[in-house]
Amino acid sequence: MKIGVFDSGVGGLSVANAIKASIDDIEIVLREDKEHVPYGTRSPQEILGFVTPIFQELVDAGCQVIVVACNTVTTTLIEDLRKQFSIPLVAIEPMVKPAAALTKSKTIVVCATPTTLASPRYDWLKQEYAESINILEPDCSDWSSMIEDDTVDQQTIATRINEVLTDGADVIVLACTHYHWIEDEIVELARGKAEVMQPETAIIEQLKRVLARL
Ligand code: DGL
Repeated sequence: MKIGVFDSGVGGLSVANAIKASIDDIEIVLREDKEHVPYGTRSPQEILGFVTPIFQELVDAGCQVIVVACNTVTTTLIEDLRKQFSIPLVAIEPMVKPAAALTKSKTIVVCATPTTLASPRYDWLKQEYAESINILEPDCSDWSSMIEDDTVDQQTIATRINEVLTDGADVIVLACTHYHWIEDEIVELARGKAEVMQPETAIIEQLKRVLARL
């Protein structure tokens, strides 16, 4: 079984590694759009122009499923992409629903790109699942570039995370797959104060269900 995993950059590798570690007998074709990363400050129209030919390549390479390991693509384009491509697209999006169910302080944090935060799909998730929850959205606009270029400034991350912890958040959602690479640092900063959520386990379960139906 061959599956595609797609992201603008190194977020895809994090997700592909997690899939490889838990599903046997699977061949992963990983595609990262290194030419256009970061996506998180671009418009949906521009991103669609980058993503469409890459998804077509994955289909042409014989992939039977594509894991959309990019919150920015899912929240802006998943409906268009599902109309264009007939194979299953297993898509990662911000974990607003489980975070809203978990919080006791009724304050959660969503760390995401500007394009994700501005998307109608994210807005819908908030209205549908977290209407009575206070959602903090710290400025993470430079995080995916820092992570992509391996120039992470720990102080910048610590400052933003400490601010939201001071504001009473008890759940932090990593809603950009690039941030999975700084999960350990964020867990350390949040220890004893907040849970950190990211979607790899949930997406693997979803992928297993989809593969079982093929
Ligand atoms: N890793 C992507 C996401 O999950 C996008 C990062 C970027 O290209 O800005 O949103």
